[in-house]
Amino acid sequence: MLSHHADDGKRTSLHGFWSSRMAFILAVTGSAVGLGNIWRFPYVAGENGGGAFVLVYLVCIVAIGMPVMMSEILLGRRGRRNPVATMELLGREEGSSRHWRYVGLLGVIAGILILSYYSVIAGWTLSYVVKSATGTFVDASKAAVIADHESFKLDTLAMSLVHTLFIGSTIFVVARGVERGLEQAVRFMVPALLIMMIVLLGYSITSGSFATGVEFLFKPDFSSLGWNSILVAMGQAFFTLSIGMGAIMAYGAYLPEETSISGASATVVAADTAIAILAALVIFPLVFANDLKVDEGAGLVFQTLPLAFGQMPGGAFFSTVFFILLSFAAWTSAIGLMEPAVAWLVEQFNRSRAQAAVIIGGIVWLIGFASVFSWNIWREFTFFQGTVFDNLLFLTNQVMLPIGGVFITLFASWVMCRNSTAEELGGSGGLYKAWRLGAQVIAPLGILTVLFFAIKSAVS
Ligand code: TRP
Repeated sequence: MLSHHADDGKRTSLHGFWSSRMAFILAVTGSAVGLGNIWRFPYVAGENGGGAFVLVYLVCIVAIGMPVMMSEILLGRRGRRNPVATMELLGREEGSSRHWRYVGLLGVIAGILILSYYSVIAGWTLSYVVKSATGTFVDASKAAVIADHESFKLDTLAMSLVHTLFIGSTIFVVARGVERGLEQAVRFMVPALLIMMIVLLGYSITSGSFATGVEFLFKPDFSSLGWNSILVAMGQAFFTLSIGMGAIMAYGAYLPEETSISGASATVVAADTAIAILAALVIFPLVFANDLKVDEGAGLVFQTLPLAFGQMPGGAFFSTVFFILLSFAAWTSAIGLMEPAVAWLVEQFNRSRAQAAVIIGGIVWLIGFASVFSWNIWREFTFFQGTVFDNLLFLTNQVMLPIGGVFITLFASWVMCRNSTAEELGGSGGLYKAWRLGAQVIAPLGILTVLFFAIKSAVS
């Protein structure tokens, strides 16, 4: 998918270019659509009261997500290096400081930390493929599905195994070069996932509680919305769009000059948001129909969907297909999560792609055990946000990604000169002005305001 003819730009990517605009959009969509949409969005929406949270989330996607994503792509394409080197190079080139590289480094670390727990949850989906295929959920009662999930979480060995399997297969693919096969995988996976979600939606509509689910999701009740929930909504917007850590910057480095950055961003954001909303529309009616807990947390999808599949005709088959697709979606995201760190090791330390993948993957694998243990042998060990797993999610999604987003937008819109950014974004018309307003003021101010009030309400 990456071809090696240099385009007319002054600078050329060290790894080749995406073969087409579509290839880039597919790769970024593949990174964006993942556990964030189907596992995390419904559970945080449930934990934070539904409607008002969803509304704040959507505002963050548009007002913060879009400008950050466009900034990342334009910086990546301008620098044509890994995020650390790109920030350093552009910092110097634009007459600022080489220390902007630390923004790239923050992203490399965020990617490693996110992947460490991402791999564990992706491991859950792998084991749910097996559970589905062997008929575990056929006609299973609510109590049986919940009991099965609870005992799985307590099984340190099983969870370690699937975590190892997932990160191992990610290392394997990244080592062989991201380009091969990824485009095909995403081209098939996103539409297939969409079809499965629509099948599930059909079932959910007939569940008897569709209206209750819709009302929960779209009827805002602001009285229950605190600053912490707003911070979670904003963090979720960063997480689901894969922004704030240089991953999109790394992908942007391989983007040909002529592709429209705003068009590509809008397409990805729309696809990602549609899948998240669809997932929630499937899950909440089922939650209410089966009298499950909306604030169940990380296990929500793994209890709701198996229960529904178990009652459906052909449920074992659909359930297997669904969890295979979800594993696939997680896997195309995992590749993106590794990309900043791997590209950095390759360029900065002259490693081969294979060596870099093994080194980074090995580190991720080890850190991942902290998340494995958070559900069993360390489950009593809680502080601040909860378990180690909860704290890792908080640190990455609610702190590191938003802070990365502040620096990325400030750099792209204040430090970069107008000519450079206008050139990348294709002129200085209305779209350019909208981006500039978003990146100079709305996104950084919005992020800092939410962080400020969330900290303030936490300490008071
Ligand atoms: N967006 C991914 C998801 O929703 C998770 C993610 C966060 C990610 N940051 C990323 C994926 C960077 C790839 C690259 O599942």
